[in-house]
Amino acid sequence: MKPFVVIGTRPEIIKMAPVLHEFSKRSIRYFFLHTGQHYSHGLSKSFFIDMKLRDPDSNLEIGSGTHSQQTARALLGIEEKLLEHKPDVVVVLGDTNAVLSAALAAVKLDIPVGHIEAGLRSYDMRMPEEHNRRLTDHISKYLFAPTDYTARILKNENVWGNVYITGNTVIDALESIIPKARKIESPVSEKNLDGFALLTLHRAENVDNPEILKGLVKGLQVVRKDIVFPAHPRTLRRLEEFNLMDDLCSLGHIHIVNPMGYMSFLRLLIDCEFVLTDSGGIQEEVTAPSLNKRVFVLRRSTERPEAVESGHATVVGTDPKKFPALVNRLCEEGLDVRRSCPYGEGDASVKIVDVLTREFSCSPEQPNAQPDRYRTPF
Ligand code: UD1
Ligand code: UDP
Repeated sequence: MKPFVVIGTRPEIIKMAPVLHEFSKRSIRYFFLHTGQHYSHGLSKSFFIDMKLRDPDSNLEIGSGTHSQQTARALLGIEEKLLEHKPDVVVVLGDTNAVLSAALAAVKLDIPVGHIEAGLRSYDMRMPEEHNRRLTDHISKYLFAPTDYTARILKNENVWGNVYITGNTVIDALESIIPKARKIESPVSEKNLDGFALLTLHRAENVDNPEILKGLVKGLQVVRKDIVFPAHPRTLRRLEEFNLMDDLCSLGHIHIVNPMGYMSFLRLLIDCEFVLTDSGGIQEEVTAPSLNKRVFVLRRSTERPEAVESGHATVVGTDPKKFPALVNRLCEEGLDVRRSCPYGEGDASVKIVDVLTREFSCSPEQPNAQPDRYRTPF
């Protein structure tokens, strides 16, 4: 089997790492391409270090730009590499512009696509991620749905490819790093905080909209807790552009820090009392047995309803008249409840590589006798 793996941003590096390690464990040589959508050390290289990944074979260095610019630059660059390397399968994960570009380039060359984290839907067409994941699901041959729920969505949409239920590789990634994260010093130890909430914010539909961002800043001022905020560069830029930085910092309880490497960020997740976020991956991570934290989702909807059902996540919206009161009330009611993880047992990468190995490693003379264990019956 000759897989061709494409990543472009921070969460893809984290979540793809267990799959790459599983390929290596089985001596499967893969071609590894970074589109270069994320390029700052704190959004890219630091994750290669923490996840112990080798450098990519190719970095297209597409950089920042409009969605069409990023998608088109990556599409052309990936096509060139696919023609050169002629892989058996292109493997992508999630819903970024890198994912759509790679899937599109591959399907046009008749190369099958394996989409990890298939079937997620927010039903919010303001989100670029919703366009990317819907389109990618419908041109993929192997759809790795993290849960029964996401597999059902794919079935109801009559996707063309085969659907497998595997869990989410973020649990594999997190569980492999968290023992080390427990041993490092807290990245905010010098602040001497007596308990804190952890905040991340970067969704385009939140931070690029001045009214919504202003409302979020206003609401966060009312949350009764110190808040540690590793700020995404997109958000910092918007806070400056919309003159909201002074408001955000005016009460002194919001501590802005640089985006964290994975180990340091996990340390913050371990230490915090609860999380405020619009991130996708963090909604999944808090459900991991070794974290088991409450997360308040600063959005109108989520494509991860499993985390709501398991009791970890509450979608609190972005309305400053509503979300801080809800957060304060839920905190008063207590955050410590026993819950189970809906995203698998940390073996998603093994299941995904099992499926790909079965598909691509058997010859006509030696058909692979292993049953198709993870494939859904529909
Ligand atoms: C992208 C993904 C989003 C994912 C997020 C993970 C898409 C459509 N969006 O959003 O789904 O959740 O990554 O973090 O693919 N910038 C830097 N350094 C970098 C990269 C970006 O400073 O290394 C700044 C630039 O000002 C850039 C802005 O951040 O314009 C936004 O970056 P971009 O990659 O376009 O989108 P993200 O918001 O990171
Ligand atoms: N993360 C990190 N450092 C940070 C913020 C996030 O390591 O400062 C990790 C987080 O643990 C999760 C992933 O980045 O695994 C989520 O990325 P992001 O929120 O940027 O993207 P999304 O998941 O929303 O696509």
